[in-house]
Amino acid sequence: MLECIVSESDQAAKGQFFTPRHVADFIIRMLSPRPKEILLDPACGSGMLLLSALRQCPNLREENCVGFDYDDKAIRVARLLMYVEGRQHCCFEALDALKPPSISDRFPEIGGSPAEYVLRRRLGESQVDMIATNPPFSVFVDSGSLPDEYVLSKRRGRVLREVLFLERCERLLKPSGKLAIILPSRVLSSVRDRYIREWLYDRFRVYGIVSLPNTMFQPYTEIQTDIIFARKRSRPLSAGASAETHEKVMMAICQQSGKDGRGNLLYRKNQRRSTESVRHDLNDIRDAFQRFVSDETLEW
Ligand SMILES: C[S@@+](CC[C@H](N)C(=O)[O-])C[C@H]1O[C@@H](n2cnc3c(N)ncnc32)[C@H](O)[C@@H]1O
Repeated sequence: MLECIVSESDQAAKGQFFTPRHVADFIIRMLSPRPKEILLDPACGSGMLLLSALRQCPNLREENCVGFDYDDKAIRVARLLMYVEGRQHCCFEALDALKPPSISDRFPEIGGSPAEYVLRRRLGESQVDMIATNPPFSVFVDSGSLPDEYVLSKRRGRVLREVLFLERCERLLKPSGKLAIILPSRVLSSVRDRYIREWLYDRFRVYGIVSLPNTMFQPYTEIQTDIIFARKRSRPLSAGASAETHEKVMMAICQQSGKDGRGNLLYRKNQRRSTESVRHDLNDIRDAFQRFVSDETLEW
C-alpha cells in the first residue's frame, strides 16, 4: 500500500519500500518481545515490523509499540493498516528520527531530540527495550553537516544514512536492550567500513548475523543485506577491546529468499494440509539461533 501511495521518485529518495512480511515475522520471532517491553521502529514506513510483533505476540501492549517516520504519508499508511487490524493504540509519529537535540527546532524548551521527546512524553522514558528496523539503504549524507552527537560518522566524508540510524538506535536503546537492524552487507565486509564494525562490537554484544540474498528486496533494490541481532552493552568496551573478547557470533546465510529475481513471491505447497507458504529458510535459521543461544548458555 505504501508503494502505491508514494510516488516512485519519492520512494527512491526516501528509501521507501516494504520489509517483506516473512522477514518482518522472522525478525520479531528472533527478538521474541516480552509483554511489558517497549518496541520501537525509528524508520517504520508502513509499520510492518510493529504489525508483525502485535500479530505474533498477543500479550504485547499496543501502547508500547512505537513507530517513527519522517514521511507523513508513511505514518498515515501505518496507522491505517493497524486500524484495519483493529488496533488503534500504537504510537506513530511523523518525525525525523535522526534529528539531534542541538538542532531540534520543534521542542527546544524540553531538550532531547524529537524522538526522545516523544518517547518520554508517551512512555515516560527516552530509551526503549527493543528496536527492530529496516532503515533506508544507500543514501549518502555529507558528514560535514552532522552535529557532534554523531561521533562515529562525523568527519568521515560521505556517510551512509543507515549508519546514522545505527548510531541513533544505540542512543535510543536501554543498556542490554536488543537490536535487530537490516544493513547493506558492505557495512560488515568492506575494508573502508572497518571503523563501523569496531564501533558496533565495542558498544554491542553481537549475537547473530544473517545474510540475505540480493533478491530479498526486489523489485525495489537488489542490494545484498545482513540482519544484525545484538544487545547493547551496559558500558562500551574501551576502543578496539572487542577484538580480544572472543565472543561467539552465529553467522547464517539465508539461501531461499522466497522471491524470484523480479520480486514475485515463491510458494511451496504443503500437500497434507493443502496450504501454501512462502518458500524461505528463515525458520531453520531461527531454530539454529535458538540452539546456539542455548548451547552457549547465552542470555538473549
Ligand atoms: C525501508 S523503509 C521501511 C520499511 C518498513 N519496515 C515497512 O515494511 O514498511 C525505510 C523508511 O525510513 C523512512 N526514513 C528515512 N529517513 C528517515 C528519518 N530520518 N527519520 C525517520 N524515518 C526516515 C522512510 O520514509 C521509509 O519509510
